[in-house]
Amino acid sequence: MLRDILDSSQAGGRIIAFGSGKGGVGKSFLAANMGIHIAGLSKKVILVDADLGNANLHTYLNLPLKGLTLSDFISGKVSNLAPVTIQTDVPYLSLIPGGKAPLGVANIVYKKKIMFLKAIKRLSADFIILDLGTGVSFNVLDFFLIAHHKVVIARPEPASIENFYQFIKTALWRRLSSLIPDLMTRKRWEVSFDQEGEWGAKRVAEIISEAEGMLDGEVKKKIEEEFPRFAVKLILNWTTTADHRRLGYFIEKVCENAIGITLRYLGYIDNDLQVEESTRLRKPLLLNYPDSSVTRAIRNITNRLLIGYER
Ligand SMILES: Nc1ncnc2c1ncn2[C@@H]1O[C@H](COP(=O)(O)OP(=O)(O)O)[C@@H](O)[C@H]1O
Ligand SMILES: [Mg+2]
Repeated sequence: MLRDILDSSQAGGRIIAFGSGKGGVGKSFLAANMGIHIAGLSKKVILVDADLGNANLHTYLNLPLKGLTLSDFISGKVSNLAPVTIQTDVPYLSLIPGGKAPLGVANIVYKKKIMFLKAIKRLSADFIILDLGTGVSFNVLDFFLIAHHKVVIARPEPASIENFYQFIKTALWRRLSSLIPDLMTRKRWEVSFDQEGEWGAKRVAEIISEAEGMLDGEVKKKIEEEFPRFAVKLILNWTTTADHRRLGYFIEKVCENAIGITLRYLGYIDNDLQVEESTRLRKPLLLNYPDSSVTRAIRNITNRLLIGYER
């Protein structure tokens, strides 16, 4: 059942997902470099290119797309992810490269998605990093929701922040509605959730309590239990001013006070020419500029993310 697969409360704390409402915010760049940093701590890391149909994580690691890829798993040519997992040049770091046949994976059907989600959960590694596609399609959200560390990346600009709020709202709705077994009820609840355009003004707890009569007691209880468990982490990328860098703390407060969601601001990464150059040359920043300020920022953010993962 989707409900059980999306349950990220189990022990482990080892799946990290990068999502974003807006594209081009730096998810793949960060996934690759964070993977390199964690692997450098002698932890086994598997990077998964789950940007179905738009795979490019291999390029950030300067690896050619040859041999088996995710397409072969999705099409059923191989039955598990082991033959698709390739060792990178970095010790302890492997990659599951995205599909070579984008049309075949971009719109995977429900059954295939469940198969893929289960296979990710079965992977054997200290950490699994999921680089996701952009936006709020169910395919993206479900990969985001299986993660223990749900990391959203945004740029400090109005459109990106707006998309950030839409992203977490939709992800929360998706998780909570997966607990409603009846399809018709789920649809009705979707409408009441969606109508809450200015949802910051009305906390989700109120929406849940107003659903009295729509949801049966057992389901409502499950939703009430699950809601406080939904926690998100934020990284601001492409910051240039002190105001940008502080914005994360403001968003933290909005999430807590106006929406009722736990959000932890992990930090910022400045706009930096070395990032651009490293991407162009296909040399991961952490290897190309091991002592730069952005490299240090990525290391600090990753360490902050990992603190407490063994709890
Ligand atoms: N802090 C930064 N400063 C400068 N360029 C950046 C920064 N972060 C990301 N980029 C560049 O932005 C582009 C898009 O990044 P990418 O990781 O592919 O985005 P996404 O995966 O979110 O679509 C890449 O060329 C990357 O090198
Ligand atoms: Mg990407």
